Amino acid sequence: MYKVLTPKNDELLERYYQFRWRILREPFNLPLGSEKDEYDAVAHHRMVINANNEIVAVGRLHFNAADEVQIRHIAVDFDAHGKGLGRVIIAALENYAIGQGAVRAVTNSLETSEAFFASCGYEKQESAPKDLLKLKRIQMVKQLGTTQRILMHPKWCAELQQTWQTTIPISEQMGIQVYQYDGLTFEVRASLNKNINLHGSMFAGSIYSLATLTGWGLIHLQLRQRALTGNIVLGDGQIHYHKPVTSQPRGIADLDALQGDFSQLSNKQKTRIELSVQILDGLQAVAEFNGVYWVLPVTD
Ligand SMILES: CC(C)(COP(=O)(O)OP(=O)(O)OC[C@H]1O[C@@H](n2cnc3c(N)ncnc32)[C@H](O)[C@@H]1OP(=O)(O)O)[C@@H](O)C(=O)NCCC(=O)NCCS
Repeated sequence: MYKVLTPKNDELLERYYQFRWRILREPFNLPLGSEKDEYDAVAHHRMVINANNEIVAVGRLHFNAADEVQIRHIAVDFDAHGKGLGRVIIAALENYAIGQGAVRAVTNSLETSEAFFASCGYEKQESAPKDLLKLKRIQMVKQLGTTQRILMHPKWCAELQQTWQTTIPISEQMGIQVYQYDGLTFEVRASLNKNINLHGSMFAGSIYSLATLTGWGLIHLQLRQRALTGNIVLGDGQIHYHKPVTSQPRGIADLDALQGDFSQLSNKQKTRIELSVQILDGLQAVAEFNGVYWVLPVTD
């Protein structure tokens, strides 16, 4: 299981820099401390941790201008190359940048990582200044569009979409789509056109359905993560509508806001899960759902 996190407290930041040093500086015999630069204090950092709470990938960005970010210090653990983690870090950083209004991302990449950045959509521009490693660097640029999708465990997400289509047919009528999952945050989108009311905004019942399915989906993915099976049912739900939805309906559920003990299922006991789902219209928060779900053991 992987999660994308922002290293916020001192302990996480120390581990984050230690990891950056181990991957990017130690191989060149550079001392501890050489991994940091003057932008770190104002930069935005992301890291991916595995099920054992070990850091497996890191990266950061800083703003060169209000509309341009520079991506630096991307590092993936030597044992974890080629699993898509570098791409996850890049997408997490780009999504943050887009949310802050950036339209362009640049990187002064090493020749050895040119193919990686090219595969993430960056185009080669010109030679860039050498840094303390004295290695040749190339400036690469990407025009940032809409939010980049991160789909961790794409097979589970496809299976979830399929389950909804076959067992909850209305989800298809609503244009419900698993949009992204980074191991921590799960996002589902719906079509506005298919759920529009006479006021030109989204029907409140559809917003409720989007919220309950988002919560349902996150629980489903947690069951897959733990190799458990169970029937998920909604026990209680409350929604507060703050504003109408008039452009892009999004349901977002965060694992940090989920409470419950999945281990009870292993003992064939039903499990109570509480969680909250935020409904956004584009980037604006418009409704909040709090739900109690039950996961019922599957009887043979
Ligand atoms: C470069 C680095 C971050 C890539 O991370 P990763 O997790 O292995 O990359 P991913 O698995 O996310 O790969 C994403 C894409 O890049 C491609 N890619 C990654 N490394 C590549 C390489 N060395 N050569 C060619 N393609 C590569 C992958 O094939 C994949 O393409 P696809 O999705 O089209 O198949 C990692 O190798 C690393 O940490 N290297 C050492 C530090 C470094 O050079 N950092 C960059 C500093 S500028």
